[in-house]
Amino acid sequence: MQNFGPVLGIETSCDETAAAVVCRDRSGKPRILSNIILSQIEEHSEFGGVVPEIAARAHLSALDRIIKAALQDADLSLEEISGIGVTSGPGLIGGLIVGLMTAKALSASNTIPYLGINHLEGHALTARLTDDLTFPYLLLLVSGGHSQILKIENLGQYKRIASTIDDAVGELFDKTAKLLDLGFPGGPMVEKAAKLGDPKRFQFTKPLRGQSTLNMSFSGLKTAVRNEAGKHTPLTDQTISDICAGMQKTVADFLAERCDQTITQHGQDTKTLVVAGGVAANGEIRNALEKTAETHGMRLIAPPLKLCTDNAAMIAWAALERFERGKVSSLDLSPRSRWPLDESAETMLGSGRKGAKV
Ligand code: KG4
Ligand code: ZN
Repeated sequence: MQNFGPVLGIETSCDETAAAVVCRDRSGKPRILSNIILSQIEEHSEFGGVVPEIAARAHLSALDRIIKAALQDADLSLEEISGIGVTSGPGLIGGLIVGLMTAKALSASNTIPYLGINHLEGHALTARLTDDLTFPYLLLLVSGGHSQILKIENLGQYKRIASTIDDAVGELFDKTAKLLDLGFPGGPMVEKAAKLGDPKRFQFTKPLRGQSTLNMSFSGLKTAVRNEAGKHTPLTDQTISDICAGMQKTVADFLAERCDQTITQHGQDTKTLVVAGGVAANGEIRNALEKTAETHGMRLIAPPLKLCTDNAAMIAWAALERFERGKVSSLDLSPRSRWPLDESAETMLGSGRKGAKV
């Protein structure tokens, strides 16, 4: 397998317009040459979630400038780029079209090969970009549109072990923040409020208690949060913090328990547990997973915060790995709003969906 030259990555599947350049250095070590992310938070905040139409227009007006900035930061011209990787699903269709069309145009007009990349594969392979990680490994993928546990066996070989049966865990954080009027995006706001709270005041029941399944569920917790908040109106800052702390602790303990069970049942040949996706930015969840991994003598890899949430470096990296194995996309590729990582697994809500959270 030959080392491939620098790859330009493009990400427009949700509410971040992002471009990045990733390559390998002379020794073969991955390097991020640039990583530009333009968040659309301001455009969406008054609606309390991502509005697909607004997102698509914002991507369209910003993407050229963001790509230029990524090339400039990497100190490379387009002629020096060996390949382009672009998110072609899953996600909001308008944004996906903007990114994919841009990549196709750049590819055709400059004779550079391009690859449509699964956004979830970007998250799944980030740990190979940041840490010296070999296949196989277990992955807890937790973000705004998906919550799954997968075995990453090899490039393109992803076995889904468990999935949420209803909401994604990021949705729980976002909806809790909306309910408690903490602002958008919800995850970081809930985490901030929880820091001042007492996690013992409200004891929420762990999801799917007593059921023999590795699957996850977060909609019951959402209702429990709503009920508890309803009992204490008007809400004081302290009660808001206590609710956030209680919810966050329950989620952290629940995810840690699921990983513990997964390692016991499916982790015999793996030495590493990876956590990826936006929710992996949460400190309490990281700490809980760290302890679980340690109990099993495993290493936990949680990529740096900037690479946990949506970014284009992970897309460039996934493309680089695929280019090195001789893959390329043709110009007739269509974007896919739904695109599960493990296509053989039974369809479940939240298992390959990613999109608007209003
Ligand atoms: O991976 P990501 O950037 O976008 C999707 O692919 O969905 O994840 C975004 C999700 C949002 O739901 C956001 O609230 C959540 O990740 N998130 C967090 C934190 N930071 C972001 N959830 C909990 N704690 C955080 N610190
Ligand atoms: Zn994501």
